[in-house]
Amino acid sequence: MGAQVRAISFIEERARALMERYAVREIRIPILERIELYARSTGATSDIVEKQMYTVERRAESAGEGQMVLRPEGTPGVVRAYIEAGLDRSDPEQRFFYCGPMLRYERPQKGRYREFYQFGVEVFGRADAACDAELLIMIDDLRRELELQLKMELNSLGCPDCRPAFRQAVLDYGRAHLAELCEDCHARLERNPLRLLDCKTDAKLAEGAPNSLDYLDDTCRKHFETVRDLLTRAGVEFVVNPRIVRGLDYYMRTTFEISSTALGAQNAVVAGGRYDGLIAELGGAPVPGIGFAIGLDRMALALLESGRKFEAAPDVAIIALGETATARASQLAHQMRQERRLAVEMLSPDRGLKALLKRADRLGARFAVIIGDNELERGVAQVRELAHSRQSEVKLDELPAALASDLRPG
Ligand code: HAM
Repeated sequence: MGAQVRAISFIEERARALMERYAVREIRIPILERIELYARSTGATSDIVEKQMYTVERRAESAGEGQMVLRPEGTPGVVRAYIEAGLDRSDPEQRFFYCGPMLRYERPQKGRYREFYQFGVEVFGRADAACDAELLIMIDDLRRELELQLKMELNSLGCPDCRPAFRQAVLDYGRAHLAELCEDCHARLERNPLRLLDCKTDAKLAEGAPNSLDYLDDTCRKHFETVRDLLTRAGVEFVVNPRIVRGLDYYMRTTFEISSTALGAQNAVVAGGRYDGLIAELGGAPVPGIGFAIGLDRMALALLESGRKFEAAPDVAIIALGETATARASQLAHQMRQERRLAVEMLSPDRGLKALLKRADRLGARFAVIIGDNELERGVAQVRELAHSRQSEVKLDELPAALASDLRPG
């Protein structure tokens, strides 16, 4: 459990550093939002809105204020904040990132949680294919830095001009195979036919379904070609998969999912796409947008599966026996942390030496420093290198420097 938390923090730190290089600014968005926000963006017929939102119980005095929910994803909240700040009109080209918990009602399993962390990026005001490619290159940069094996799959869903014909073709196909559809697809066919394409139960049926790429108009085809070309030039590996339709309503043109082969069923670690109509749909100016979100919990699992270790062992465990020794040991610990930047843990003085040495070993510390009355009188400490059971005596005054030169040579 601790290792997954450390892996999440590690990915977050790397992603934050990457944002500086790509000139993306942080935005903090609230966890509570109005329910309408998601119905109008994520989509009234999406699984998220239909089945997965946590609504907040209303107090009598707030009954007139409308229903609030815990955010299931970040994109709508970022768009809302952007419009509320008037940026869609005053300064539309913006790049934001956010990091925090999202909440969805799920049946929890490995890699699928009710509360999970996303690190997301949203770019507004750029309609050009170079922007799509830049975001995918950004994700690939992170993948390389983390030394993760991931599979990038891309698709284009077309635009409001060419998508209706594609939607109709899938609808006709679904109607022709009505008896073979799974319960879910059967129920949502008329309202959201494209979901048939990424249905896991109806995978065989989806293979024979119409292909979105065959329906792209010239502008959309050209856009998608440019994205692929720029990725190839940047040395980013990807495959085109016409079944990447995404379960959220706002996408158009480029959509993508990045998955880890090291994970089981819940293997999508990053997902996103272009959503040029969303800002206007939520009451803003007609500004284009595109973004993605990393599922930090899943990416952390993928890192751990790949054999990466995230130890949190201290450099030094201090065992002080007796009150006076504890006082001196506290000073030394502070000195080691402040002046020598060592990771130091003071062990509870309540137990005997043997138990404390065992504890230092279990913590994975490199060195145990033992200071008892006898040592204190002589102005020394016993320093034990735990892995080798080697012990030596070091003068207290020289202890921080001696440990630092062993632990951080050079
Ligand atoms: P999404 O595909 O719903 O897209 O979620 C993005 C990522 O969040 C997934 O690929 C997965 O790694 C992670 N994730 C989703 N649900 C769970 C869960 N229950 N447990 C653990 N991890 C999960 C979005 O949320 C869009 N807002 C992405 C986006 C940003 N599109 C444009 N901009």
